[in-house]
Amino acid sequence: MTKLNIATIENFIFQQLEESLNLPKRELMLETKMILLNSLEVTSTDLIINKKKSVSEKDYHQIKRIIDQRKTGKPLAYIFGEWDFYGQTFYVNKNTLIPRPDTELLIDIAFDTFDKTLPLKILDLGSGSGVIGITLANHYLNSQIFLSDISMNALKIAKKNAAKFNKKITLIRSDWFKSIDEHHFNLIVSNPPYINKNEQHLVSPELKFEPNKALYANEDGLGDIKSICARAKEYLITDGILMLEHGFNQASDILDIFKKNNYKNIKQFKDINQKLRVTLGFK
Ligand SMILES: C[S@@+](CC[C@H](N)C(=O)[O-])C[C@H]1O[C@@H](n2cnc3c(N)ncnc32)[C@H](O)[C@@H]1O
Repeated sequence: MTKLNIATIENFIFQQLEESLNLPKRELMLETKMILLNSLEVTSTDLIINKKKSVSEKDYHQIKRIIDQRKTGKPLAYIFGEWDFYGQTFYVNKNTLIPRPDTELLIDIAFDTFDKTLPLKILDLGSGSGVIGITLANHYLNSQIFLSDISMNALKIAKKNAAKFNKKITLIRSDWFKSIDEHHFNLIVSNPPYINKNEQHLVSPELKFEPNKALYANEDGLGDIKSICARAKEYLITDGILMLEHGFNQASDILDIFKKNNYKNIKQFKDINQKLRVTLGFK
């Protein structure tokens, strides 16, 4: 075999992914870089200025195993068993949604809304891997944080993440509010399922690896959001906030749902693509 170095391996990964995945070049390059960073003892800088650095056969075989899995469509997050959210790495597996950069908007809005020194009581509803609640726990050091999900398997990963960041967090298995006994939350935050169940066939192949329960909702994707909005006020303090992520084409429906449930000072927020993706309202 010819001597392997970063440059040859980088080309190899890119070509293999290009042949089997229908992704834009920018994403192929990003995935190539992530595979290199995950598999080799290198930094991002090495990948630019140290391309002649040799790669062992053992590392080459490890990379090949990753590529073989990726070729089946399995997302890198599930192959690595971890993914980044708000600058930190969290455990994920097939029972949890892969954290999305879009969801970081919820964190930014929380930071703009609540001073970090406040002793808040926060509920992350449908917590999945726990990225939202645990990220808030990492910044609101005087707060009490509760994570809840209907999936026991997702809660197991959330527990592992809470331990990783050394956070004392209460985990509750609950079908939305059914088993939530705590009240008086300052903030209830959720990234609930909001893809229209009838449009499952339209989604990208990667989404087929993610739990259906994390993605799809009845009533044109609005069913879970309606349930949450209808019940959340019972669990908020006066002037407490319900904050939800939703689809870019759902903003006006969500506004109506918040209004119908008599939330006050309703606000909607745009993501970096200038789409309204988060709605909040005060009790
Ligand atoms: C879109 S995922 C969000 C996961 C995580 N919060 C994130 O942003 O990466 C929605 C989550 O809601 C949970 N879920 C779905 N239906 C639920 C229900 N009826 N009660 C509680 N949680 C539910 C799913 O298990 C999933 O973890």
